[in-house]
Amino acid sequence: MKTYEEKECSKLSFFRSENAERYKEYAWKNPHMDGEEVVWRVNNNLDKEKYAYDVSVSNGNSLFVLVNKYFKLPDDYCPSDLVEADGLPMRSITADAYRRMRDAAKAEGFSVSVSSAYRSIDEQKQLYNKFLKDAPASEVDKTCARPGYSEHHTGLAIDVQGSIPGGRNIAKTPEGPWVRENCHKFGFILRYLPEIVEITGYDAEPWHLRYVGETVSMDMKAKQIKSFEEYRERFLIGKDI
Ligand code: DAL
Ligand code: ZN
Repeated sequence: MKTYEEKECSKLSFFRSENAERYKEYAWKNPHMDGEEVVWRVNNNLDKEKYAYDVSVSNGNSLFVLVNKYFKLPDDYCPSDLVEADGLPMRSITADAYRRMRDAAKAEGFSVSVSSAYRSIDEQKQLYNKFLKDAPASEVDKTCARPGYSEHHTGLAIDVQGSIPGGRNIAKTPEGPWVRENCHKFGFILRYLPEIVEITGYDAEPWHLRYVGETVSMDMKAKQIKSFEEYRERFLIGKDI
């Protein structure tokens, strides 16, 4: 598709007439952007300030829940089916997929383990405030979600580490490339890639995986779509999911 034209874009299944004025304004500010991209971005509220346009998430238990700097979970949200894997809590579907991935890595000589999984909103508050002691919010916001806005609250996100003890950044271990090349086969996506920092608002995190199920992770890989924001808007919303 070419640059935004309302007549053409209104044929898109995810065009929302209530956003028509916002599409026009966003397209005007981004004159070279593909029209379809204008539409999915605005539907994700990317034309608004981060944290200034909160939407309360009502489908916390959905496999396709979106939690980011625009979509916040209610303060009392907690998934109901937490189990442990590597001694850390996560939703049972995440744990099953993680164990399969860990075992497949092991069979190829790689050692993958979890360093952080489900975190309550209170735990995230403590984490965020700890970072705030050493850096301003503008810096902390690049690496740590504000309480209520973390994917870790869903039980669908895990941080994985490699074989170097204490090495938080899996990309610096032999397991980094393995996880990057293989995680989609187990239903995970790398949620914070360097190419989409502007969309997520987070620096790249090669250790943060989000479980979305194999159908979606494989399709995102096949379509070479980097952000869950884009995929969800273009291919999931409005479908029977
Ligand atoms: N580090 C990620 C963005 C989180 O705190 O959820
Ligand atoms: Zn994480």
